[in-house]
Amino acid sequence: MNENNPLMQPLKIGNLTAPNRFAINAMECCDADPQGNPGPKTYRRYRKHMEGECGLVVGEAITVGYESRSREMQLSIMPHNEKALTEFTRDLKSINKDSLFIWQLTHSGEISHPGFSKRVTPKKLAGFDDATLLEEEDVEKIMDSFVLAAKIAHDSGADGIDFKQCHGYLGSQFVRPYNDRKWKYGGSWENRTRFAFETYERIMKEVNDPNFIVGSKVSMWEAFPGGQGTAGPESPIMDLSESVKLVKGLEERGASFIIVSVGSPSITLAKSQPDRSIPDDVYLHFTFQKAVRDALKPETAVIGSGYSVLNRGKNKLQARKEEESSLLYWGERNVQEGVCDMIALGRQSLADSQIPLKITEDRENEIKWCTACDNCIEFLIRQKNVGCAVHDREYTESLKAIRKEEGALKAKHT
Ligand SMILES: Cc1cc2nc3c(=O)[nH]c(=O)nc-3n(C[C@H](O)[C@H](O)[C@H](O)COP(=O)(O)O)c2cc1C
Repeated sequence: MNENNPLMQPLKIGNLTAPNRFAINAMECCDADPQGNPGPKTYRRYRKHMEGECGLVVGEAITVGYESRSREMQLSIMPHNEKALTEFTRDLKSINKDSLFIWQLTHSGEISHPGFSKRVTPKKLAGFDDATLLEEEDVEKIMDSFVLAAKIAHDSGADGIDFKQCHGYLGSQFVRPYNDRKWKYGGSWENRTRFAFETYERIMKEVNDPNFIVGSKVSMWEAFPGGQGTAGPESPIMDLSESVKLVKGLEERGASFIIVSVGSPSITLAKSQPDRSIPDDVYLHFTFQKAVRDALKPETAVIGSGYSVLNRGKNKLQARKEEESSLLYWGERNVQEGVCDMIALGRQSLADSQIPLKITEDRENEIKWCTACDNCIEFLIRQKNVGCAVHDREYTESLKAIRKEEGALKAKHT
């Protein structure tokens, strides 16, 4: 019943209201057209999301420039995309005008794909040392492109943006303790946060609309030495003090929501998306959600990630009854107990994003649950169109074809 369900209560985010406590997390799916505009599969996915009535839909990582892509068929948000993005947003809003729709603005920095983009970095990191060091004037241009992208998001009808500060993308690369290079954007805390904070201030000034929500997804702990949330440039020890200072600094500059995340998928994948063989990492997500909830003002929305592995309770969490280890159980409990205000569905959104609709229509038993098989991440790593190979026949067939092709290639070369 909706009236007693904490997940079905509205949530104020800035001056806007999400109709319930479910969000779709940003999920890039490599199906843009060659100009970086939404393609037919992009339309199909987001239409389903809007029909499913999650309170907030975060549009996947959309690049602010061609040279900073990690996926060849990635969406982009530059002046030539504005018309297509306007049509896209209008289409989504015509399906459902109540759910909020925002874009996640990104630049891949050192994890840009060298095959079709250019790797750049504040400080070279082992494994990514083919990246070119950024200079001050490069950073200024990148900041300009984020401000322009925010304006395009606004003018094309989106309700807001998530300025990405997570998962090892450029935002993470500046702020992490590892960036101890002595320059305007590295070394001291003030220098490492200059990129994030000044870009925020410029976006707020440029967009200047109290009904446009701005926030960030943040990796509280990247889980490698010198990553976000560690005690120093070479330290593997978790220390949340800077991550907490970061979210507070973003809030002071106008962030109305923080999406809490963990890890850096190209280095510590199982931390950002708890693996079905070790689902216990979901508790790490909860712990960080609570740390952010406790640090911020009550009116700033705290959105949790990492819930997909829980599914309907068919998971490997130990010392829990099945009915007390499901996604809905922990989501309701975490919202009720002030761990977070909203839960974002990542992998689950590809399996079935229509949870709120099915709860409202008393069809909970029809929810198709994510099995955390991680075939979706396999599609992504292979730069193929991403979907759910368990619940969507088109992607089951596509995965079979990819593996067959790979088998044939292997056979040819052995
Ligand atoms: C195929 C795929 C694409 C993803 N794309 C993005 C993205 O564009 N931006 C982002 O911040 N996280 C991305 N993620 C991470 C998810 O948003 C989410 O943080 C993570 O999967 C944990 O949530 P879950 O347990 O609900 O899957 C992606 C994950 C997968 C599997």
